[in-house]
Amino acid sequence: MPDLAKIVGKVEGLPTLPSVVARINQLIDDPNASAGDINEVISHDLALSAKILKLVNSAFYGFPRRISSMTHAVVILGFNSVRNIALTAFVFDAFDTGALPFGHRNFWVHSVGTAVTADALATRAGLHIGDDAFVAGLLHDLGKVRIPKDVLTKPGKLTDEEWVVMRRHPVDGARIIYESDRQLDLASAVAYEHHIMINGGGYPGRHFQRECHKASKLVHICDVYDALRTARPYREAWESDRVLANIQSGAGPDFDAELANAFITMMRQWERRVAVVDDHTPLPHMSPTATTPPVGTAAVVAGPAAESAEAVP
Ligand SMILES: [Fe+2]
Ligand SMILES: [Fe+2]
Repeated sequence: MPDLAKIVGKVEGLPTLPSVVARINQLIDDPNASAGDINEVISHDLALSAKILKLVNSAFYGFPRRISSMTHAVVILGFNSVRNIALTAFVFDAFDTGALPFGHRNFWVHSVGTAVTADALATRAGLHIGDDAFVAGLLHDLGKVRIPKDVLTKPGKLTDEEWVVMRRHPVDGARIIYESDRQLDLASAVAYEHHIMINGGGYPGRHFQRECHKASKLVHICDVYDALRTARPYREAWESDRVLANIQSGAGPDFDAELANAFITMMRQWERRVAVVDDHTPLPHMSPTATTPPVGTAAVVAGPAAESAEAVP
């Protein structure tokens, strides 16, 4: 993505992703890296170490014996999952400012919900981008950390000036991600492009037609779905059928038609098995997909393997 640096410009006064993420990304690319190397990186971050051990010992994995060694946990989870846990924890902390319109936890759940559905849709649509869909979904709205509270929390319509501020978050998010870790360049591009429509509408404004990356088109659909399914200060949550009809009607001009159809088929099949659960909610018996459950709350997408599972409460 050679033009990305020019587009996102220079970062000033923006938060950065934790350095542990960049170091894990380097190890992911290193064929000689071992679980011990990852352990060495993580061991400097006690909070992250605790989260990883908590996750690997959670009901989601259901191991009969307690796993107390971080190296063992890394072997079980895999390098990418450990990186995703670090990113998920960062997103939670980044929005823990009290400056969000519907609570930072809900914002984090939106990020995770978008990540999980993006990951599932990428697999469904045969996009071979590994964990990048999850990471891009997770970080797509990161630029919102820069939006002032009175704009974010406004229950009514935004003024033209406030829209200018709101529409800045794709560019700010792309800057934060790209400047923090160049290896997350796809996530940066997706943050930049996730509000751009197929017909060229949306934002940020551009002088020329831009052919967005497939991952951006994918996250765009998942973002809209998750946002409309969730209540906001200015509207109720929409029922799934209504959101899917909305996506169907926008397939072509707004959304990539092929991805929109794949998404609708997937959600009609899976929607009743998508759940957000916390530490106090017992997990139903289901097989996890390759998707990493986030720390503290597990957003679970059950695939066809869980066909017989009851609907998640
Ligand atoms: Fe956004
Ligand atoms: Fe979003």
